[in-house]
Amino acid sequence: MHKIVSVPNWIRIREEFSILREQAHGRPLIYFDNAATTQKPRAVLDAVRQYYEHDNANVHRGLHTLSARATEAYERARQTVADYIGAAAADEIVFTRGTTESINLVAQAWGGKFLRSADVILLTEMEHHSNLVPWQLLAGRIGATLRFVPVRDDGSLDLDRLSSFLTPEVKLFAFTHVSNSLGTINPIAELCRKAREIGAITVVDAAQSAGHKPVNVQEIGCDFLAFSGHKMCAPTGIGALYGRAEVLNSLPPWHGGGEMIVSVTLEKSSFKKAPHRFEAGTPNIAGAIGLAAAIDYIENIGRAAIFEHDLGLTRYALERFGELPGMRVLGPSGERGAIVGFVMEAAHPHDLTTFADQYGLALRGGHHCNQPLMRRFGVTGTTRASFYFYNTKEEVDGMIEILHKAVKFFQ
Ligand SMILES: Cc1ncc(COP(=O)(O)O)c(C=O)c1O
Repeated sequence: MHKIVSVPNWIRIREEFSILREQAHGRPLIYFDNAATTQKPRAVLDAVRQYYEHDNANVHRGLHTLSARATEAYERARQTVADYIGAAAADEIVFTRGTTESINLVAQAWGGKFLRSADVILLTEMEHHSNLVPWQLLAGRIGATLRFVPVRDDGSLDLDRLSSFLTPEVKLFAFTHVSNSLGTINPIAELCRKAREIGAITVVDAAQSAGHKPVNVQEIGCDFLAFSGHKMCAPTGIGALYGRAEVLNSLPPWHGGGEMIVSVTLEKSSFKKAPHRFEAGTPNIAGAIGLAAAIDYIENIGRAAIFEHDLGLTRYALERFGELPGMRVLGPSGERGAIVGFVMEAAHPHDLTTFADQYGLALRGGHHCNQPLMRRFGVTGTTRASFYFYNTKEEVDGMIEILHKAVKFFQ
């Protein structure tokens, strides 16, 4: 049965993003590059400004008022993140620069301690380079093997063959929740359950889902989950890694420096517990505060409502793409993330994206950090439109009109 979600006032919400009133080449901006980064509402900008104007100081080490205020806000932000993704405790949240850094942390700290040369790391063919290259580096260093769950022609994972890939040598299974090129939504709870049956650690790349739909790590049953603030209304340079307490506490530090130690002699050091053990140096305090403000903002709208909105817009866009001749749309036809990747026979994605920009339409053209996936679909790149809750049907109509012009121009 479909859950009933109350409908937010999308028009009023859109007005809180003043950047959406910008023009590009003298035309009203249509911003459809949300999978790369989202725009920021006034509430987030205000939170960052408020912090710098009233509370700015370094965290944890200070005994003065501002330092106490900054520390309190920073640690409160950690609790906000924990609540947002259903973590059992704030200590399960490590602040990082984003998804990429979160995955590198796991690859280095977990991989360095637990991976052996006979072991296998299981990934999928649809991974973003940030969930591929760190594992390649790790496997290369240890001499371990990488294995990949194939992607079917319709953009879904070939789950019928999953059991044949999940053999006892697999020590870690890392996969994306939502594909940034295809929009595919993977059944991550099922993937985690199957991985657990063979004792493998699971890593979920939630870069394209954390701001778009409800995500609860305990329901998913993952060991690690990574996401980026800037893809969900928060500033750039801040993100998080969730690590299940038992696993996170078993990891050694990965970066050394201030903030992460208990005591230091010239010869050796002892380290704090998680999460501070993994946060060497001065953290992105304003970023964490901005992320907490973004989470409050998103929660106020409701992630279920955001998902419904995005889905409706994506379905509408897919329907209207049918009008455009010579257009190949990638990805599943059913429920999917707010991402439409397409290839126009007559134009290179870069040329099409540049053409669209002349009309004020921000798309993204290229391999989207998915080179192996592009190869799998026999293309060098795609053009991608990606939506968020502040986008409208009228903007989709605007895009289709511009793409009609492109079809005429490039034919
Ligand atoms: C699925 C996926 N994973 C990882 C990343 C990397 O995110 P970041 O560059 O914020 O670390 C992205 C960014 O596009 C992504 O779409």
